[in-house]
Amino acid sequence: MSQLVSQQIESQFRESFGSSAALYERAVGLFPSGVTHDSRFLRPFPIYVDHAQGARKTDRDGNDLIDYWMGHGALLLGHSHPAVVEATRDQIGRSTHPGACHELELEWGERVQRMVPSAERVRFTNSGTEATLMAIRVARIVTGQAKIVKFAGHFHGWHDQLIPAASPPHDADTGYTMPGVTEGVFGDLVIVPPNDLEAAAAAIAEHNPACVIHEGNGSRWGVVPTRPEFLQGLRQVTAESNTILILDEVITGFRVHEGGYQSHCGIVPDMTTMAKVLAGGLPGGCLAGRADLLEVLAFDNSLGKKMKHPGTFNANPLSAAAGCAALDVVATGEPSRIANQQAARVRSGLNAMFASKGVPWVAYGDFSAIKIIPGYDGPGPEGDDWVPHGGDYRQLDVKFDDTLGHAFRCALLLNGIDWMGWAGSTSSAHTDEDVEATLLGFAAAIDLLVADGLIQAA
Ligand SMILES: Cc1ncc(COP(=O)(O)O)c(C=O)c1O
Repeated sequence: MSQLVSQQIESQFRESFGSSAALYERAVGLFPSGVTHDSRFLRPFPIYVDHAQGARKTDRDGNDLIDYWMGHGALLLGHSHPAVVEATRDQIGRSTHPGACHELELEWGERVQRMVPSAERVRFTNSGTEATLMAIRVARIVTGQAKIVKFAGHFHGWHDQLIPAASPPHDADTGYTMPGVTEGVFGDLVIVPPNDLEAAAAAIAEHNPACVIHEGNGSRWGVVPTRPEFLQGLRQVTAESNTILILDEVITGFRVHEGGYQSHCGIVPDMTTMAKVLAGGLPGGCLAGRADLLEVLAFDNSLGKKMKHPGTFNANPLSAAAGCAALDVVATGEPSRIANQQAARVRSGLNAMFASKGVPWVAYGDFSAIKIIPGYDGPGPEGDDWVPHGGDYRQLDVKFDDTLGHAFRCALLLNGIDWMGWAGSTSSAHTDEDVEATLLGFAAAIDLLVADGLIQAA
Protein backbone atom coordinates (compact mmCIF):
# COMPACT_ATOMS: atom_id res chain seq x y z
CA MET A 1 0.00 0.00 0.00
CA SER A 2 1.39 3.43 -0.91
CA GLN A 3 2.13 5.81 1.95
CA LEU A 4 -0.13 8.86 2.29
CA VAL A 5 1.42 10.42 5.34
CA SER A 6 4.90 9.20 6.27
CA GLN A 7 6.55 5.85 6.88
CA GLN A 8 6.51 5.34 10.61
CA ILE A 9 3.53 7.50 11.50
CA GLU A 10 1.25 5.94 8.93
CA SER A 11 2.02 2.33 9.84
CA GLN A 12 1.55 3.06 13.58
CA PHE A 13 -1.66 4.91 12.80
CA ARG A 14 -3.10 2.01 10.79
CA GLU A 15 -2.24 -0.34 13.65
CA SER A 16 -3.79 1.78 16.42
CA PHE A 17 -6.92 2.87 14.57
CA GLY A 18 -7.87 -0.32 12.70
CA SER A 19 -11.63 -0.06 13.32
CA SER A 20 -11.66 3.48 11.90
CA ALA A 21 -9.80 2.23 8.80
CA ALA A 22 -12.52 -0.40 8.27
CA LEU A 23 -15.34 2.13 8.72
CA TYR A 24 -13.66 4.52 6.32
CA GLU A 25 -13.60 1.79 3.65
CA ARG A 26 -17.41 1.87 3.84
CA ALA A 27 -17.51 5.67 3.89
CA VAL A 28 -15.59 6.22 0.65
CA GLY A 29 -18.31 4.46 -1.34
CA LEU A 30 -20.92 6.63 0.33
CA PHE A 31 -19.71 10.18 0.95
CA PRO A 32 -17.41 12.27 -1.28
CA SER A 33 -13.91 11.77 0.18
CA GLY A 34 -15.67 9.66 2.81
CA VAL A 35 -16.55 12.59 5.07
CA THR A 36 -19.51 14.82 5.93
CA HIS A 37 -17.52 18.00 6.75
CA ASP A 38 -14.39 19.20 4.92
CA SER A 39 -12.37 19.65 8.12
CA ARG A 40 -12.91 16.04 9.18
CA PHE A 41 -11.00 14.73 6.17
CA LEU A 42 -7.74 13.08 7.25
CA ARG A 43 -5.13 11.01 5.44
CA PRO A 44 -4.86 8.03 5.49
CA PHE A 45 -8.35 7.98 7.11
CA PRO A 46 -10.28 9.91 9.78
CA ILE A 47 -11.04 8.42 13.18
CA TYR A 48 -14.52 7.27 14.16
CA VAL A 49 -15.65 8.32 17.62
CA ASP A 50 -17.82 6.08 19.76
CA HIS A 51 -18.56 8.27 22.76
CA ALA A 52 -17.34 11.39 24.56
CA GLN A 53 -17.40 12.90 28.02
CA GLY A 54 -15.94 16.17 29.34
CA ALA A 55 -12.74 16.98 27.44
CA ARG A 56 -12.25 13.41 26.21
CA LYS A 57 -13.53 11.28 23.41
CA THR A 58 -13.10 7.57 22.77
CA ASP A 59 -12.82 6.09 19.32
CA ARG A 60 -14.06 2.71 18.04
CA ASP A 61 -10.78 1.05 19.06
CA GLY A 62 -11.02 2.36 22.62
CA ASN A 63 -8.34 5.04 22.16
CA ASP A 64 -8.85 7.75 24.77
CA LEU A 65 -8.29 11.20 23.20
CA ILE A 66 -8.11 14.71 24.66
CA ASP A 67 -10.39 16.68 22.38
CA TYR A 68 -9.52 20.09 20.96
CA TRP A 69 -12.37 20.17 18.40
CA MET A 70 -14.99 20.65 21.07
CA GLY A 71 -17.84 20.14 18.64
CA HIS A 72 -16.32 22.63 16.13
CA GLY A 73 -16.41 25.16 18.97
CA ALA A 74 -19.96 24.40 20.14
CA LEU A 75 -18.97 22.58 23.34
CA LEU A 76 -17.67 25.27 25.66
CA LEU A 77 -18.81 23.11 28.60
CA GLY A 78 -17.24 19.92 27.22
CA HIS A 79 -18.99 16.80 25.98
CA SER A 80 -22.24 15.68 27.60
CA HIS A 81 -22.38 18.29 30.36
CA PRO A 82 -24.81 16.90 33.00
CA ALA A 83 -27.15 19.93 32.84
CA VAL A 84 -27.41 19.67 29.05
CA VAL A 85 -27.92 15.89 29.14
CA GLU A 86 -30.69 16.21 31.73
CA ALA A 87 -32.48 19.01 29.89
CA THR A 88 -32.48 17.19 26.52
CA ARG A 89 -33.46 13.89 28.14
CA ASP A 90 -36.45 15.58 29.78
CA GLN A 91 -37.48 17.24 26.54
CA ILE A 92 -37.10 14.30 24.14
CA GLY A 93 -40.11 12.46 25.54
CA ARG A 94 -42.23 15.60 25.62
CA SER A 95 -41.81 16.70 22.01
CA THR A 96 -38.99 16.89 19.48
CA HIS A 97 -41.08 19.03 17.17
CA PRO A 98 -44.46 20.39 18.18
CA GLY A 99 -44.97 22.14 14.82
CA ALA A 100 -46.11 25.06 16.94
CA CYS A 101 -44.87 27.80 19.22
CA HIS A 102 -43.58 26.50 22.56
CA GLU A 103 -42.49 28.05 25.85
CA LEU A 104 -38.87 26.87 25.57
CA GLU A 105 -38.29 29.12 22.57
CA LEU A 106 -39.22 32.06 24.79
CA GLU A 107 -36.90 30.87 27.54
CA TRP A 108 -34.09 30.48 25.02
CA GLY A 109 -34.65 33.84 23.33
CA GLU A 110 -34.93 35.65 26.67
CA ARG A 111 -31.54 34.30 27.71
CA VAL A 112 -30.01 35.64 24.48
CA GLN A 113 -31.70 39.00 25.07
CA ARG A 114 -30.36 39.16 28.64
CA MET A 115 -26.80 38.14 27.83
CA VAL A 116 -26.04 39.79 24.47
CA PRO A 117 -26.00 43.63 24.44
CA SER A 118 -27.23 44.02 20.83
CA ALA A 119 -30.13 41.55 21.15
CA GLU A 120 -33.24 43.73 21.19
CA ARG A 121 -34.99 41.11 19.05
CA VAL A 122 -34.09 37.50 18.20
CA ARG A 123 -34.91 35.07 15.40
CA PHE A 124 -33.79 31.44 15.54
CA THR A 125 -32.23 29.58 12.60
CA ASN A 126 -30.73 26.11 12.22
CA SER A 127 -27.10 27.08 11.83
CA GLY A 128 -24.61 29.92 11.75
CA THR A 129 -24.63 29.83 7.95
CA GLU A 130 -28.35 30.55 7.95
CA ALA A 131 -27.91 33.30 10.52
CA THR A 132 -25.39 35.26 8.42
CA LEU A 133 -27.49 34.71 5.29
CA MET A 134 -30.45 36.17 7.14
CA ALA A 135 -28.45 39.11 8.49
CA ILE A 136 -27.35 40.34 5.08
CA ARG A 137 -30.84 39.84 3.59
CA VAL A 138 -32.30 41.94 6.41
CA ALA A 139 -29.70 44.65 5.78
CA ARG A 140 -30.45 44.66 2.05
CA ILE A 141 -34.19 44.93 2.60
CA VAL A 142 -33.86 47.77 5.09
CA THR A 143 -31.33 49.82 3.12
CA GLY A 144 -32.31 48.93 -0.43
CA GLN A 145 -28.56 48.57 -1.12
CA ALA A 146 -26.89 45.44 -2.54
CA LYS A 147 -23.21 45.60 -1.63
CA ILE A 148 -21.62 43.97 1.35
CA VAL A 149 -18.27 44.87 2.84
CA LYS A 150 -16.44 41.87 4.28
CA PHE A 151 -12.90 41.28 5.50
CA ALA A 152 -10.42 38.97 3.77
CA GLY A 153 -10.09 35.69 5.66
CA HIS A 154 -13.28 36.11 7.70
CA PHE A 155 -15.53 33.06 7.63
CA HIS A 156 -19.30 33.41 7.86
CA GLY A 157 -20.54 29.98 6.76
CA TRP A 158 -20.64 28.33 3.37
CA HIS A 159 -23.44 30.14 1.51
CA ASP A 160 -22.62 31.88 -1.80
CA GLN A 161 -22.92 35.42 -0.47
CA LEU A 162 -20.06 35.29 2.01
CA ILE A 163 -17.88 32.26 1.27
CA PRO A 164 -15.64 34.15 -1.19
CA ALA A 165 -12.34 35.28 0.39
CA ALA A 166 -13.03 33.25 3.54
CA SER A 167 -9.65 31.53 3.29
CA PRO A 168 -6.25 31.98 1.66
CA PRO A 169 -4.68 32.59 -0.78
CA HIS A 170 -5.06 36.33 -0.31
CA ASP A 171 -3.37 37.38 -3.47
CA ALA A 172 -4.10 40.94 -4.57
CA ASP A 173 -2.88 40.19 -8.11
CA THR A 174 -4.96 37.12 -8.89
CA GLY A 175 -8.03 38.08 -6.84
CA TYR A 176 -10.46 35.64 -5.27
CA THR A 177 -12.33 32.82 -6.95
CA MET A 178 -14.81 30.27 -5.63
CA PRO A 179 -16.14 27.44 -7.80
CA GLY A 180 -19.90 27.69 -8.23
CA VAL A 181 -20.24 31.28 -7.00
CA THR A 182 -21.44 33.57 -9.77
CA GLU A 183 -19.87 36.78 -10.96
CA GLY A 184 -23.01 38.59 -9.84
CA VAL A 185 -22.37 37.55 -6.24
CA PHE A 186 -18.73 38.62 -6.47
CA GLY A 187 -19.88 41.92 -7.94
CA ASP A 188 -21.84 42.68 -4.78
CA LEU A 189 -18.93 41.92 -2.47
CA VAL A 190 -16.32 44.46 -1.42
CA ILE A 191 -13.41 42.65 0.21
CA VAL A 192 -11.08 44.68 2.41
CA PRO A 193 -7.95 43.64 4.35
CA PRO A 194 -8.59 42.62 7.97
CA ASN A 195 -7.80 45.14 10.72
CA ASP A 196 -7.58 47.96 8.17
CA LEU A 197 -9.91 50.70 9.35
CA GLU A 198 -8.93 53.11 6.60
CA ALA A 199 -9.73 50.53 3.92
CA ALA A 200 -13.08 49.78 5.55
CA ALA A 201 -13.95 53.49 5.76
CA ALA A 202 -12.94 54.03 2.13
CA ALA A 203 -15.02 51.03 0.99
CA ILE A 204 -18.05 52.38 2.84
CA ALA A 205 -17.60 55.84 1.33
CA GLU A 206 -17.18 54.47 -2.20
CA HIS A 207 -19.84 51.74 -2.23
CA ASN A 208 -22.55 52.83 0.22
CA PRO A 209 -23.07 49.17 1.21
CA ALA A 210 -26.08 47.50 2.81
CA CYS A 211 -23.82 46.41 5.64
CA VAL A 212 -20.34 45.64 6.90
CA ILE A 213 -19.87 42.17 8.37
CA HIS A 214 -17.00 41.33 10.70
CA GLU A 215 -16.12 37.94 12.17
CA GLY A 216 -16.02 38.13 16.00
CA ASN A 217 -12.33 38.31 16.93
CA GLY A 218 -11.02 38.00 13.36
CA SER A 219 -10.36 35.56 10.52
CA ARG A 220 -11.54 32.04 11.27
CA TRP A 221 -11.56 32.23 15.06
CA GLY A 222 -8.68 34.62 15.22
CA VAL A 223 -6.06 33.31 12.78
CA VAL A 224 -5.53 37.02 12.20
CA PRO A 225 -6.70 38.35 15.54
CA THR A 226 -8.68 41.56 15.88
CA ARG A 227 -8.11 43.83 18.85
CA PRO A 228 -10.96 45.66 20.66
CA GLU A 229 -9.67 49.04 19.44
CA PHE A 230 -10.23 47.98 15.84
CA LEU A 231 -13.81 46.91 16.46
CA GLN A 232 -14.46 50.08 18.46
CA GLY A 233 -13.11 52.06 15.50
CA LEU A 234 -15.24 50.10 13.06
CA ARG A 235 -18.31 50.74 15.20
CA GLN A 236 -17.56 54.46 15.11
CA VAL A 237 -16.94 54.55 11.35
CA THR A 238 -20.11 52.58 10.58
CA ALA A 239 -22.22 54.64 13.00
CA GLU A 240 -20.96 57.91 11.51
CA SER A 241 -21.82 56.77 7.98
CA ASN A 242 -25.12 55.23 9.09
CA THR A 243 -23.96 51.81 7.87
CA ILE A 244 -25.28 48.60 9.42
CA LEU A 245 -22.59 46.68 11.32
CA ILE A 246 -23.08 42.93 11.66
CA LEU A 247 -20.87 41.13 14.13
CA ASP A 248 -20.64 37.42 13.37
CA GLU A 249 -20.34 35.83 16.81
CA VAL A 250 -21.12 32.29 15.69
CA ILE A 251 -17.93 31.10 17.38
CA THR A 252 -17.12 33.92 19.81
CA GLY A 253 -20.70 34.28 21.10
CA PHE A 254 -21.01 32.92 24.68
CA ARG A 255 -17.48 31.49 24.32
CA VAL A 256 -14.96 34.31 24.79
CA HIS A 257 -17.19 36.03 27.37
CA GLU A 258 -20.75 35.32 28.48
CA GLY A 259 -21.88 38.39 26.50
CA GLY A 260 -19.73 37.56 23.46
CA TYR A 261 -16.87 39.48 21.88
CA GLN A 262 -19.04 42.62 21.77
CA SER A 263 -19.17 42.63 25.59
CA HIS A 264 -15.42 42.12 25.75
CA CYS A 265 -14.93 45.13 23.43
CA GLY A 266 -17.74 47.27 24.86
CA ILE A 267 -19.49 47.84 21.53
CA VAL A 268 -23.06 47.26 20.36
CA PRO A 269 -23.32 46.10 16.73
CA ASP A 270 -26.58 46.60 14.84
CA MET A 271 -27.01 42.86 14.36
CA THR A 272 -25.26 39.78 15.74
CA THR A 273 -25.20 36.25 14.38
CA MET A 274 -24.79 33.33 16.79
CA ALA A 275 -24.82 29.52 16.79
CA LYS A 276 -22.57 26.81 18.32
CA VAL A 277 -22.52 27.44 22.13
CA LEU A 278 -25.96 29.04 21.77
CA ALA A 279 -27.55 25.61 21.28
CA GLY A 280 -25.52 23.74 23.90
CA GLY A 281 -24.05 21.27 21.39
CA LEU A 282 -27.20 20.67 19.36
CA PRO A 283 -27.95 22.32 16.00
CA GLY A 284 -29.21 25.89 16.15
CA GLY A 285 -28.39 29.49 15.38
CA CYS A 286 -29.93 32.92 15.61
CA LEU A 287 -29.89 36.47 14.38
CA ALA A 288 -30.24 39.09 17.09
CA GLY A 289 -30.23 42.84 16.78
CA ARG A 290 -32.00 46.16 16.62
CA ALA A 291 -35.78 45.90 16.82
CA ASP A 292 -36.26 48.26 13.87
CA LEU A 293 -34.06 46.04 11.65
CA LEU A 294 -35.51 42.67 12.63
CA GLU A 295 -38.91 44.27 12.08
CA VAL A 296 -38.58 43.22 8.41
CA LEU A 297 -39.31 39.67 9.57
CA ALA A 298 -42.63 40.84 11.01
CA PHE A 299 -45.93 40.70 9.14
CA ASP A 300 -47.40 44.04 8.08
CA ASN A 301 -44.17 45.86 8.93
CA SER A 302 -43.75 49.58 8.39
CA LEU A 303 -41.44 49.08 5.37
CA GLY A 304 -44.17 47.16 3.61
CA LYS A 305 -41.57 44.48 2.75
CA LYS A 306 -41.80 41.21 4.64
CA MET A 307 -38.72 38.99 4.58
CA LYS A 308 -39.80 35.39 4.13
CA HIS A 309 -38.39 33.09 6.75
CA PRO A 310 -39.68 29.56 7.12
CA GLY A 311 -37.37 26.72 8.35
CA THR A 312 -38.66 23.35 9.58
CA PHE A 313 -36.37 23.17 12.59
CA ASN A 314 -36.25 26.83 13.66
CA ALA A 315 -36.22 27.04 17.47
CA ASN A 316 -36.33 23.27 17.76
CA PRO A 317 -37.30 22.37 21.34
CA LEU A 318 -34.43 19.91 21.87
CA SER A 319 -31.92 22.58 20.83
CA ALA A 320 -33.81 25.10 22.97
CA ALA A 321 -33.64 22.79 26.00
CA ALA A 322 -29.91 22.17 25.50
CA GLY A 323 -29.30 25.86 24.79
CA CYS A 324 -31.12 27.09 27.91
CA ALA A 325 -29.26 24.60 30.12
CA ALA A 326 -25.89 25.54 28.61
CA LEU A 327 -26.49 29.30 28.70
CA ASP A 328 -27.40 29.14 32.40
CA VAL A 329 -23.95 27.72 33.11
CA VAL A 330 -22.26 30.10 30.64
CA ALA A 331 -23.96 33.10 32.32
CA THR A 332 -21.85 32.56 35.45
CA GLY A 333 -18.79 33.61 33.42
CA GLU A 334 -16.80 30.65 34.74
CA PRO A 335 -16.78 28.49 31.59
CA SER A 336 -15.21 31.26 29.47
CA ARG A 337 -12.73 32.09 32.20
CA ILE A 338 -11.60 28.47 32.60
CA ALA A 339 -11.46 27.70 28.87
CA ASN A 340 -9.48 30.90 28.20
CA GLN A 341 -7.07 30.15 31.02
CA GLN A 342 -6.43 26.55 29.92
CA ALA A 343 -5.81 27.62 26.32
CA ALA A 344 -3.25 30.20 27.53
CA ARG A 345 -1.49 27.41 29.45
CA VAL A 346 -1.39 25.19 26.38
CA ARG A 347 -0.06 28.07 24.23
CA SER A 348 2.77 28.96 26.61
CA GLY A 349 3.60 25.30 27.33
CA LEU A 350 3.82 24.55 23.62
CA ASN A 351 6.07 27.52 22.94
CA ALA A 352 8.41 26.43 25.75
CA MET A 353 8.45 22.89 24.36
CA PHE A 354 9.07 24.02 20.74
CA ALA A 355 11.97 26.16 21.97
CA SER A 356 13.47 23.37 24.06
CA LYS A 357 13.36 20.97 21.13
CA GLY A 358 14.77 23.54 18.72
CA VAL A 359 11.76 23.24 16.44
CA PRO A 360 10.83 26.46 14.60
CA TRP A 361 7.12 26.23 15.42
CA VAL A 362 5.06 28.73 17.35
CA ALA A 363 1.69 28.77 19.15
CA TYR A 364 -0.48 31.86 19.51
CA GLY A 365 -4.15 32.78 19.80
CA ASP A 366 -6.72 34.61 21.86
CA PHE A 367 -9.27 33.37 24.39
CA SER A 368 -9.84 29.60 24.09
CA ALA A 369 -8.15 29.27 20.67
CA ILE A 370 -4.72 27.79 20.07
CA LYS A 371 -3.16 28.31 16.64
CA ILE A 372 0.05 26.64 15.46
CA ILE A 373 2.43 27.90 12.81
CA PRO A 374 4.95 25.33 11.56
CA GLY A 375 8.16 26.77 10.19
CA TYR A 376 8.02 30.22 11.80
CA ASP A 377 11.19 32.26 11.42
CA GLY A 378 10.14 35.65 12.81
CA PRO A 379 10.70 37.21 16.22
CA GLY A 380 8.82 36.29 19.42
CA PRO A 381 6.81 34.92 21.12
CA GLU A 382 6.42 37.61 23.74
CA GLY A 383 3.47 37.49 26.12
CA ASP A 384 0.07 35.91 25.58
CA ASP A 385 -1.42 38.59 23.33
CA TRP A 386 1.53 38.47 20.95
CA VAL A 387 0.73 37.99 17.26
CA PRO A 388 3.31 36.44 14.87
CA HIS A 389 4.44 38.24 11.71
CA GLY A 390 3.40 41.55 13.28
CA GLY A 391 -0.19 40.62 12.44
CA ASP A 392 0.37 40.79 8.65
CA TYR A 393 -2.54 38.73 7.30
CA ARG A 394 -0.70 37.81 4.09
CA GLN A 395 1.91 35.99 6.17
CA LEU A 396 -0.37 34.78 8.97
CA ASP A 397 -3.32 33.50 6.96
CA VAL A 398 -1.61 31.04 4.63
CA LYS A 399 -2.10 27.38 3.78
CA PHE A 400 0.50 25.15 5.35
CA ASP A 401 2.02 22.01 3.83
CA ASP A 402 -0.70 19.39 3.35
CA THR A 403 1.41 16.25 3.90
CA LEU A 404 2.86 17.71 7.09
CA GLY A 405 -0.65 18.71 8.24
CA HIS A 406 -2.02 15.18 7.91
CA ALA A 407 1.06 13.61 9.48
CA PHE A 408 0.88 16.12 12.36
CA ARG A 409 -2.73 15.24 13.15
CA CYS A 410 -2.01 11.50 12.94
CA ALA A 411 1.06 11.89 15.17
CA LEU A 412 -1.06 13.74 17.74
CA LEU A 413 -3.81 11.11 17.60
CA LEU A 414 -1.17 8.44 18.21
CA ASN A 415 -0.28 10.40 21.34
CA GLY A 416 -3.82 10.84 22.64
CA ILE A 417 -4.78 14.24 21.20
CA ASP A 418 -7.46 15.05 18.64
CA TRP A 419 -6.42 18.38 17.14
CA MET A 420 -8.46 20.35 14.59
CA GLY A 421 -6.07 20.93 11.69
CA TRP A 422 -3.56 23.56 12.80
CA ALA A 423 -5.78 24.88 15.59
CA GLY A 424 -7.55 23.73 18.72
CA SER A 425 -10.14 25.02 21.17
CA THR A 426 -10.40 24.34 24.87
CA SER A 427 -13.52 23.94 27.00
CA SER A 428 -14.23 24.45 30.68
CA ALA A 429 -13.88 20.66 31.03
CA HIS A 430 -10.14 20.74 30.18
CA THR A 431 -8.37 20.08 33.48
CA ASP A 432 -4.79 20.85 34.49
CA GLU A 433 -4.03 17.14 33.98
CA ASP A 434 -5.41 17.38 30.44
CA VAL A 435 -3.12 20.33 29.76
CA GLU A 436 -0.09 18.44 31.13
CA ALA A 437 -0.97 15.34 29.10
CA THR A 438 -1.45 17.53 26.01
CA LEU A 439 2.02 19.04 26.33
CA LEU A 440 3.59 15.59 26.73
CA GLY A 441 1.57 14.24 23.80
CA PHE A 442 2.59 17.17 21.62
CA ALA A 443 6.26 16.67 22.51
CA ALA A 444 6.03 13.00 21.54
CA ALA A 445 4.25 13.90 18.29
CA ILE A 446 7.00 16.38 17.41
CA ASP A 447 9.58 13.62 18.04
CA LEU A 448 7.67 11.36 15.65
CA LEU A 449 7.63 14.04 12.94
CA VAL A 450 11.37 14.57 13.39
CA ALA A 451 12.05 10.82 13.34
CA ASP A 452 10.07 10.46 10.12
CA GLY A 453 12.05 13.29 8.54
CA LEU A 454 9.06 15.61 8.13
CA ILE A 455 10.53 18.40 10.22
CA GLN A 456 13.97 19.22 11.51
CA ALA A 457 15.07 20.10 15.04
CA ALA A 458 18.06 22.39 15.56
C1 LIG B 1 -17.69 32.85 12.53
C2 LIG B 1 -18.55 31.79 11.89
N1 LIG B 1 -19.63 32.15 11.19
C3 LIG B 1 -20.45 31.25 10.62
C4 LIG B 1 -20.18 29.91 10.74
C5 LIG B 1 -21.09 28.91 10.11
O1 LIG B 1 -21.82 28.26 11.12
P1 LIG B 1 -22.46 26.83 10.85
O2 LIG B 1 -21.33 25.87 10.71
O3 LIG B 1 -23.31 26.59 12.07
O4 LIG B 1 -23.28 26.94 9.62
C6 LIG B 1 -19.06 29.47 11.47
C7 LIG B 1 -18.75 28.04 11.59
O5 LIG B 1 -17.70 27.62 11.98
C8 LIG B 1 -18.22 30.44 12.05
O6 LIG B 1 -17.14 30.09 12.76
